Amino acid sequence: MLKGKKIILGITGSIAAYKAAEILSLLKKKGADVFVIMTEPATKFVQPLTFSTLSGHPVITNLFSLNDQIEIKHVSLSQWADLILIAPATANIIGKIAHGIADDMLTTTVMASKSKVIFAPAMNKNMISNPIYQENVKKLVALGYEFIDSEYGLLACGEVGEGRLADIKEIVDKVDHTLLFKKDYKNKTVLITASCTREPIDKVRFISNYSSGKMGFALADVAQARGARVILITGPTCLPTVKGIDTILINTAEEMKNEVFKCFKKADIIISAAAVADFRPKEIFSGKIKKEETKKMVIELEKTSDILYELGKKKGNKILVGFAAETENLVHNASKKLKEKNLDLIIANDLLAKGAGFGSDKNTAKIIDNKGIVRELPLMPKTDMAEKILDEILKIN
Ligand code: CTP
Repeated sequence: MLKGKKIILGITGSIAAYKAAEILSLLKKKGADVFVIMTEPATKFVQPLTFSTLSGHPVITNLFSLNDQIEIKHVSLSQWADLILIAPATANIIGKIAHGIADDMLTTTVMASKSKVIFAPAMNKNMISNPIYQENVKKLVALGYEFIDSEYGLLACGEVGEGRLADIKEIVDKVDHTLLFKKDYKNKTVLITASCTREPIDKVRFISNYSSGKMGFALADVAQARGARVILITGPTCLPTVKGIDTILINTAEEMKNEVFKCFKKADIIISAAAVADFRPKEIFSGKIKKEETKKMVIELEKTSDILYELGKKKGNKILVGFAAETENLVHNASKKLKEKNLDLIIANDLLAKGAGFGSDKNTAKIIDNKGIVRELPLMPKTDMAEKILDEILKIN
């Protein structure tokens, strides 16, 4: 939620300017107070009236058009804002800001502001690949400005390529994350495993479990929002991959283990949220097992490797966090796993708790540290739980 947050939405002269109306409407729905500043060319694409109606504030289009009815001057407006979002952002506005030009209301406001500035560029693919544009972006990124990369697709000029304005939800989520989360995971690499694994029986069947990956993905999402570099190794899931998160898709426990150990060195923190299958069929039938030829079905299983246990042996100074999925003796069983697997923290989930567990958007848990201190987390959305877990991890030293 963005209740009480103050945002300036800068709109520049791109055909994607009409999409700014949806961005504004979503920001308002989330509770933000939004002031719109349009450049002169932007007003040729969409009427300011659209934005003044949606924002409930007059739209500022001209540095010299401010009058007494608009009680804010450009400098106070720049200080009023918690964040400035420029969407769509043309190559022109990015070039101007990169070079300190302040010749209209939007560039002047950015220049006078100390708030976070986020650009969502939209332009022709040749402009994107132009080294001048690339240099400008590099300079701004080094100065702390943020970018939401444009997408590949059909462009207004009829060509196909990089340059479409990013997905509206992605833009609004980025604003949300930037305003809500502190960047306390900056310079940390977090390796997260998520979802289930599938252990094949034959070409069409497998053994698996109900894990949806929601908890692992929520952790990845929040860790990234808090500034971490995130590597997400996930089993099969319906959840969409998130831009900027290095996502590796696997099927079996063995594949997960191989990928985890390939990435092990890079990670400062490892969170094992995956429900890894403990057993797999000893032999995999090469085709499809036919029912006519099989009177009684017996599948011999063998143990998979316990990835987290193996990680515990190599731990060094890395932080190792596990999950415990239990149906009885929650704290006792989870504490045992914490010790045996050499963990810093374990998140104990009661699989029988109402409204929580596999597939649910909510979860309840007990967080146990290696001193035996137990913290109770009541039923809450998995994103909130991810935040709490990441808070606890930062307390480990
Ligand atoms: N885990 C793992 N590799 C496995 C099994 C589990 O890395 N082959 C990890 C899980 O990701 C989790 C932790 O170990 O972080 C505990 O998993 P859980 O399924 O609760 O317990 P198990 O160790 O498998 O023991 P049991 O099934 O007997 O409860």
